[in-house]
Amino acid sequence: MTSDAARADGLTDAVQAVLPALEQWLRFTDMTGPARRRDSWQAVLDVPLPDKGAGAGPALAELADWVVANGLPIGAPGFTGFITTGPSTVPAVAQFAAAVASPQRYAVSAFNLLEGVSLRWLAQACGLDPTVAGVYSSGGSVANLLALGAARQAAFERLGVDVGRDGLPPGARGRIYAGTEAHHTIHRSAAVLGLGREAVRPVPVDDRQRVRPDLLAGMIERDVAAGDVPVAVVGVAGTTNTGAIDPLDALADVAERHGVWLHVDGAYGLPAAGVEELAGRFAGVRRAQSWIVDPHKWLATGVGCAATFVRDPELLHRTFTQTPAAYLAMPGSGAVASAFEDFGVHYDDLSVELSAPPRGVLVWAVLREIGRDGLHERIRRHVAYARRLTDLARAHPRLEALTDPELSVACLRYRPAHPVADAELDALNEELLRRLWRTTAHLPSSTVVAGRFAIRPCYVGVRHTDADVTGLAAALVELGDALVAERAA
Ligand SMILES: Cc1ncc(COP(=O)(O)O)c(C=O)c1O
Repeated sequence: MTSDAARADGLTDAVQAVLPALEQWLRFTDMTGPARRRDSWQAVLDVPLPDKGAGAGPALAELADWVVANGLPIGAPGFTGFITTGPSTVPAVAQFAAAVASPQRYAVSAFNLLEGVSLRWLAQACGLDPTVAGVYSSGGSVANLLALGAARQAAFERLGVDVGRDGLPPGARGRIYAGTEAHHTIHRSAAVLGLGREAVRPVPVDDRQRVRPDLLAGMIERDVAAGDVPVAVVGVAGTTNTGAIDPLDALADVAERHGVWLHVDGAYGLPAAGVEELAGRFAGVRRAQSWIVDPHKWLATGVGCAATFVRDPELLHRTFTQTPAAYLAMPGSGAVASAFEDFGVHYDDLSVELSAPPRGVLVWAVLREIGRDGLHERIRRHVAYARRLTDLARAHPRLEALTDPELSVACLRYRPAHPVADAELDALNEELLRRLWRTTAHLPSSTVVAGRFAIRPCYVGVRHTDADVTGLAAALVELGDALVAERAA
């Protein structure tokens, strides 16, 4: 018995106190409940800071009854709104196990070992050379930041400047080239790296939302002539809006010709590059200098897990190394008899995080459970779902497919039998989506494709079934017809 107010024992009882609520949650029977009941749980939870603790029992009961029961169902079978999903069972348990058994990723532990093992497995599962160096972070936002940090370091080192150490030279204008469909975290990375959001040159996309490499060379040449420093070309391997894959081989040609770093943002799509029959769509992917992938998307590890891969980790080190801290200096030579005599890989010097949970164990858990084959089967199934929904939309007189899916994102809209202007169609589909959310278990999101409002399901979750795909098409027609009838009445 310790004198601390917090319990540090009784783990089994504590888990058992919450498990029934978690099992109930995973039935996903009350999709609109948490929003409808918001007043009730807000009243219970949003209270003044307690001076006296309620104790473990009441805290766990509140966790089960009010917090778990009012979570966000992104792992539900019909949820296709985000490009992230909930964890499958084994990584969910691995996350809990890591929180208990190895809250940090460093020093001599099996968790630390799995950081490196899983990065190698992940690279291979994505069709990359397993010798690339990796580091985990919290998500694609940070992963992109790290990769573009390395690119910035390389670009300015070529001019004799160590930006990580000395900062950007006065007046220097670095440039990043990314398609107009690239994720906005590229722009934020540019801002954080001191280049500014405006440093991201928007490269136009073609009618399939893929960046146009034919326009890229001219943009780089004009910038170089103006004295700007090209830092990176970004190719998106699976855009967030439509799942489009930029022509990576052609981007690599232009980048190589101009001596510019090629970064592949594969936060969502990179795992598909390892699938034999899809690999052709990612031709050239291995020619890049850096890549990111989010296991919290297609690997369903649970949110908080991304990886950055680079060819040369020294660049990451020079960009992000900390000034040495005395308390981190470990004596490290000869036989290691204590976990704390070997810090392991200094991921803290390759990234912006010092304290960080082990994330490799999540990726390890997924790949140990289902293997590369299981992951690739999942991706094939999801890509087939997007294709099937698109085919259903094409075959139906009142549905319209707005893209030809490359990966597992489909974009479609309801179109009434009578002619309607585009603006009216947008408004109708917006209302239709709201009704879908409120009255069904089908929860896609929306996007805009070439100026048109689209309903956009993205299949990355482990619980989707064929019925969720056909059910969504049917629900769109049924609710769309009802809406049109109401408006005509
Ligand atoms: C292509 C792409 N890049 C980067 C990100 C940012 O990732 P995260 O949300 O994990 O920070 C996303 C997120 O959806 C994405 O789709």
